[in-house]
Formats: sequence, C-alpha cells, structure tokens
Amino acid sequence: MHRLYPLPSEATDAAHAAGPQRVPHADRPWLMLNMVASIDGAAAVDGVSRGLSSEPDKAMFGALRAQADVILVGARTANAERYRPARRSRARIAVVSGSLSVDPDLPLFSPPQGRSTAPLPLVVTTDDADDGAADRLAGRAELVRAGTGSVDLLGSLRHLGRLGTRVVLCEGGPTLNAALLAADLVDEVNLTHAPLTVGAHAPRIAAGPVDGSLATPSRAYALDHVIAHDDVLFVRWTRSRS
Ligand SMILES: NC(=O)c1ccc[n+]([C@@H]2O[C@H](COP(=O)([O-])OP(=O)(O)OC[C@H]3O[C@@H](n4cnc5c(N)ncnc54)[C@H](OP(=O)(O)O)[C@@H]3O)[C@@H](O)[C@H]2O)c1
Repeated sequence: MHRLYPLPSEATDAAHAAGPQRVPHADRPWLMLNMVASIDGAAAVDGVSRGLSSEPDKAMFGALRAQADVILVGARTANAERYRPARRSRARIAVVSGSLSVDPDLPLFSPPQGRSTAPLPLVVTTDDADDGAADRLAGRAELVRAGTGSVDLLGSLRHLGRLGTRVVLCEGGPTLNAALLAADLVDEVNLTHAPLTVGAHAPRIAAGPVDGSLATPSRAYALDHVIAHDDVLFVRWTRSRS
C-alpha cells in the first residue's frame, strides 16, 4: 500500500492510513462514510457490494471500523449484506430503520455464545414506529427513537454523542448516505475505487433520500489523501466548513 498524496509519497498500511484520531463536534460525533464504488460509479453488483471489494479494501474497511465507536448502516444494507456483530472492532452497530423493516433474524441480533455481555446493537428509528415491529426486536436490539415519519438523523447523532460516542462510521447504503448528505452531517468520505466497470443497473453511492426530497445543495470537500494498492485506489475527502 502506497500513499500517493499528500507528497512526499511513502509506503503505508491500512491501520496507519485509517488514522488520525477524529475530534467530535461540540454537539455531535464526527461522522465518516466508507464506501466502495466501481470506476463507473456503481455501489453494488447484483444487489450487494461483495463484487466490488478486494483484500486491500477489506483491510481498509476493518481499519476504519477500528476508528469508530458506532457503525451506522441503513436497514436495506443490513438486510442485503446479512450484517453480523463487528468481529475485530469494539464498535457498536446501529441500523437506521424508520419503518423497522430490519430483519430481526439477522446474525447481528444473535451474537455468538460468549459475547452475551456485549451491549445490544442499536436500531435507530422514529417516535411513531410500529409497536409490533418494535416488539419483534425486544431483547435483540436497543431502540433509539428520534423524529416522526422519518428518522431525525441529527437528533439521533446527538443522542449517540450523549452516550459517549465520539466517532460514527457510516457504511451506507446509498439511501442513508443521501439523507446524511442532505442534512450536511458527513464530515469525511472514504471512497475505495475498485478497478472494474459494472454498467448502468446499479446505484451510485448516494441515491434517493427516503423522504423524496432531492433538493440537496452541492457540498465542498477537500482532498485528504490518495492511497494505491495494486489497481485499487483509496481516496479520503473531508468537508470544508469555512
Ligand atoms: N458499495 C458500498 O460500499 C455499499 C455500502 C453499503 C451498501 N451498498 C449496497 O447498497 C444497497 C442498499 O442500499 P439502499 O440505498 O437500498 O438502502 P440503505 O441506505 O442501506 O437503507 C435504506 C433504509 O434505511 C432506512 N433509512 C435511511 N435513512 C433514513 C431516514 N432518514 N429515516 C428513516 N429511515 C431511514 C430506511 O429503512 P426502513 O425502510 O426500515 O424505514 C431505508 O429504507 C445494497 O445493494 C448494498 O449492497 C453498497
């Protein structure tokens, strides 16, 4: 793995590249995004991201997880990718699910024996979420409620901050990313460029806010680093807020 920018370039590894320590905002945790996309911008192949990933991408994925206190993920990604408890990270997983469509039988909600003292995963939902769906998660997840109709993402991040969360890593998918970008909550974008094209029938890394509002202004980001490993490129951008 070789850092190409900033200059001078130097050899690096995923653990080093995943740093430095992030500083939370006064009222909410730092929020970083990590996604992998093809050369032509696809965020999935046949409905999952596996076809885009690679050994170096997995190494960076794990190293970024190690920087996080909470891993945030949308319900459709948690369901499609069969989310499970983070193995090599102390981070707690939080699934965003306004309608509680998240599958209560995911491996995430059935930790292996011996990890029963670990805190339950979180499900971030709304004040008016369906009671029956909430009951199906009882004893499997701790619910965080913020907002009516759709999840109040800023409110839920503030809530996580009050629980001691300093850094949140969002792992997608595109719908959750779009909602976070619309609310201008994304401080840092980590993007892996996979060396392949996928074609037209795939989502971009941000697509279609759940509330139907598409009026998201452009946001400026500054280039933080560029790292190459064989044909795979890792690029990090941080939000310019001046
Ligand atoms: N390339 C990558 O790095 C990468 C990473 C992750 C995922 N993916 C791919 O992306 C696809 C899934 O992404 P997706 O866009 O369909 O779904 P998603 O973003 O994973 O999940 C969308 C769901 O999250 C909940 N949600 C998000 N924002 C919300 C808000 N503000 N309020 C209430 N609920 C909210 C809703 O759940 P409810 O319906 O329960 O209300 C919504 O339906 C899969 O193909 C996956 O493989 C790719």
